[in-house]
Amino acid sequence: MCGIVGYVGPQDSLDVVLEGLRRLEYRGYDSAGIAVLADGGLSTAKKAGKLANLEKELAEEALPPSTLGIGHTRWATHGGPTDRNAHPHVSADGSVAVIHNGIIENFAPLRAEIEATGVEFSSETDTEVVAHLLAAEYPRTPEGPGRLAEAMRAVSRRLEGAFTLVAVHASEPDTLVASRRNSPLVVGVGDGEYFVGSDVAAFIAHTRNALELGQDQVVELHRERGVTVTDFTGTVVEPTAYSVDWDAAAAEKGGYDWFMLKEIAEQPRAVADTLLGRLGEAGELVLDEVRLSYEDLRGIDKVFVVACGTAYHAGLIAKYAIEHWTRIPVEVELASEFRYRDPVLDRSTLVVVISQSGETMDTLMALRHAKEQKAQVLAICNANGSTIPRESDAVLYTHAGPEVAVASTKGFLTQVVACYLVGLFLAQVRGVKYADEVAAIVEDLRALPDAVATVLESMEPVRELARSLAGENTLLFLGRHVGYPVALEGALKLKELAYIHAEGFAAGELKHGSIALIDQGTPVVVVVPSPRSRGSVHGKVVSNIQEVRARGARTIVIAEEGDEDVVPYADHLIRVPRTPTLLAPVVTTVPLQVLACEIAATRGLDVDQPRNLAKSVTVE
Ligand code: F6R
Repeated sequence: MCGIVGYVGPQDSLDVVLEGLRRLEYRGYDSAGIAVLADGGLSTAKKAGKLANLEKELAEEALPPSTLGIGHTRWATHGGPTDRNAHPHVSADGSVAVIHNGIIENFAPLRAEIEATGVEFSSETDTEVVAHLLAAEYPRTPEGPGRLAEAMRAVSRRLEGAFTLVAVHASEPDTLVASRRNSPLVVGVGDGEYFVGSDVAAFIAHTRNALELGQDQVVELHRERGVTVTDFTGTVVEPTAYSVDWDAAAAEKGGYDWFMLKEIAEQPRAVADTLLGRLGEAGELVLDEVRLSYEDLRGIDKVFVVACGTAYHAGLIAKYAIEHWTRIPVEVELASEFRYRDPVLDRSTLVVVISQSGETMDTLMALRHAKEQKAQVLAICNANGSTIPRESDAVLYTHAGPEVAVASTKGFLTQVVACYLVGLFLAQVRGVKYADEVAAIVEDLRALPDAVATVLESMEPVRELARSLAGENTLLFLGRHVGYPVALEGALKLKELAYIHAEGFAAGELKHGSIALIDQGTPVVVVVPSPRSRGSVHGKVVSNIQEVRARGARTIVIAEEGDEDVVPYADHLIRVPRTPTLLAPVVTTVPLQVLACEIAATRGLDVDQPRNLAKSVTVE
């Protein structure tokens, strides 16, 4: 949510910053802006709307060449998405330019205080207070190196809320300063050049050497002095260095029309990479990286899975699998609700937080609440070194690679796979009733990448079907057992990408009210469990298809190869490979992703950047 980039070094900063913004635009696209420092003065350009608007303006009126610059792409919080509210914000005296990601909660009293000194604000944002505060603080700092960093520390101490701030000062042409609390920030270290970014995509084209910044820290990047990190009081701290294990090509479209299409296509590899090295030869799970002791894992008597949106749907699937394999009760909660209802947690509770970005504020706050209650927290995360895994007791990384499209696809599939790994590992460690199933399931897991690839090979009829659905106003999705979260996920994808009303239902629940929605021609997508599924849930879902069809629904049925029972009731039949019931979501979700993507594209919408959304939601 909001993309931030900064550069100091020998290249023209405008090019570097614009390139970084292009890669970060998925984080927010309400407006974009840039500031460069040249000839002792700041020059800015900012524009409402997508980055392309700013680029057009810059093509008409270029900024002066400069070797120090900052840029921002915004997801609006305080103040609408207008030119005025776009970042950077410049202090009234023109000395300081600031960009910001997050929310400054005490901005109202700060603004009143600044206005009382006669300063006039030029935007409605919370961010602008920082520009004025820094400009006022700077002359009070001792002369010599590090003045802007010192001013930033003083100002940061006064701020409440979540922020990543990056600032430049007209008197320091070689210095970039950044501060962070509860919002993401990484530093890139090149050869005689330095970068800051909301994530490494901002500078991946230039360097893979990154530094993690901790909570409540300020970093100064100086062309000659290099990188200095301190806490808010000025005590120097050593940042953690790491090397990014993907390159610029991984963050590009690679010939696809949309990042989402590329990411859907990458799913077999993403699933394989998430399993890689974690399935032992003797059919055992090898998860040494999960830094929870076996003793602790044996002592667990309850699991909470906490996440948002698509990641929450992965959690719902996890419940079926973990409870079945381990016999430990599992609750799944939306992160934004979790801590506010005062959940019962203690040392014997395992809280699994799932987050692709590792930055989602609701999930981060839930994590902190769980830790305060002494629960053990395991993060399932895709973004190396992000805040959520850093603050968790243990982490299991999904290896999906960078996910740029706002709608999560490979992120979701790999989260589901990681949840299976956690469940099976718990079963193995605890030696419970189903532990003997582990080896067999490990073999089934190994087959998943090929199964996903098989689904992807037969998607042309789904695309054709999608084109015929693009004019619909409503689609309903039904599923049962693990098919229920898949139905929820299919509906979410369609809503967020195609702006079509869509709802997912537990198929058995339909008759308790929602079946009244079915009218002549209403498209209903049904995720059918395997005929080999436990109990007779398959037969029940087949009955549910008949029920909706009898009321006029146009049925779109997703069923595994060889399931002939569904044939008479399917107006459209989408086949997926035979897969054990609990693992089936990994294959049944894929056609729903393709369906939503193609419907959105047919409607002429921006598949990668749906309206009102941002990739990482770093506000509560
Ligand atoms: C939907 C989607 C969102 C995210 C949610 C959590 O396609 O991507 O619902 O799943 O915002 O994000 P993470 O996983 O980054 O915490």
